[in-house]
Order: sequence, then structure tokens, then C-alpha cells
Amino acid sequence: MSASAAEEIAGLLAAWLPSNDDPARPLMTLSTGTSSGYPDARTVLLSEYDERGFFFHTDSRSRKVTDVTGDPRAALTLLWPGRQLVVQGDVSRADDAEELWAYRHRSRYLQLLAWLNTPEFAALPLEERLVRWAEFDAAHPEGALDPPPTWSGFLVRPVRLTFWEGRPDTASRRTEFRRTTDGWQTALLPG
Ligand SMILES: Cc1cc2nc3c(=O)[nH]c(=O)nc-3n(C[C@H](O)[C@H](O)[C@H](O)COP(=O)(O)O)c2cc1C
Repeated sequence: MSASAAEEIAGLLAAWLPSNDDPARPLMTLSTGTSSGYPDARTVLLSEYDERGFFFHTDSRSRKVTDVTGDPRAALTLLWPGRQLVVQGDVSRADDAEELWAYRHRSRYLQLLAWLNTPEFAALPLEERLVRWAEFDAAHPEGALDPPPTWSGFLVRPVRLTFWEGRPDTASRRTEFRRTTDGWQTALLPG
């Protein structure tokens, strides 16, 4: 029972998500708890996923990192026409090799952004931001950039996955998998 649920999850993820090498990365809403009690949410890229879970990458100084450091639980929401995947999971830091792999697979723009996405840069007028971006770009030829020290990756290891499917000719429905000590428990729920 639990082995087939695991296979079903793997099959659904393979059908719904692009391969990790596909440069078109899916967007996810990453929801976190905060010290104020108000939840926070923002869009991030799904960098990759595997049997451990879902990886996102960000700046270690960001609010989301403060959030998951204080409370290492999060939710991810991925949306497509007619489909939604919601994941609840436990958050942990990715290892160095994974972080480097993800940086190397980022577009040139996003590699530069990881270096220049600072409060000081954001405070500059547009003219200066354009000049400084171009200067940094020119000073670091394609392929020469390593990740900045602030580059950080996180794994969201699912405890619950909810696959929502809608269709115009009958009611929408969710297939939900909950991690238990014995494996995955499956439920079919109204949409
Ligand atoms: C389409 C889109 C994709 C984004 N992808 C990422 C991402 O992969 N990582 C990231 O740190 N921020 C990403 N952002 C920016 C975040 O949404 C957010 O503004 C930023 O990370 C600061 O969030 P925080 O203050 O809640 O930590 C993306 C924004 C958009 C609109």
C-alpha cells in the first residue's frame, strides 16, 4: 500500500513538473510562519525536486530564511491551468553540492542578481543601478561567476501533498497523500 502510494506520487510529480534540466522553472508560492504570527508568502522558483523533496534557492539575508530558521515548516503552492499542487513540509538547508548545481543552472541574469540583490543596490536611483549592473556584468564573464556567500538552498521535505485537478465536465477533486510512520496515507477529497 505505501509502496504504491510512493509510486503514485512519483508518477504524478513526473507528469506535472518539468525535468530538473528544463530551463523553464515552475513558480511556487512559498508560505512561511513568522515571529509576528502573520503568515508570509512570496514567489520562488522550484530549482529542482527529487525523492527527498522540493528545492528553492534564495539569499541567506532574506526574510524567508529568517522565517524558516525560526520555524522550519513551510507550504508550497504550484498552479497550472486546471491543476494545483500544495505541499506542506519540513525545511532544511541543502548541501553544498546541491547549492552549486542550482547556481550553475540559473540563467546568467539570475546569477548576476544573486550578487547584486542587496538593500544598498535597491536604494540606488535607476541610472546608477543600470550602470553598476552593466559594470558587474562586464567584469565577470560568462561562466566565471561562483555563487555569492549569501546563496543558499533549502529542501522542503513533504509531509503532505495535495494534487488538485479541475475539469469543466465534472467536479474538481483532490488526491492527498499524508506521510505517516508506516508510509503514505491516501485520501480522495472534494476540490
Ligand atoms: C516570478 C518570480 C520568481 C522569483 N523567484 C525567486 C527565487 O527563486 N528565489 C528568491 O529568493 N526570490 C525569488 N523571487 C523574489 C521573491 O518573490 C521575494 O520578493 C524575495 O525573495 C524576498 O522575499 P522575502 O523578503 O519574503 O524573503 C521571485 C519573484 C518573482 C516575481
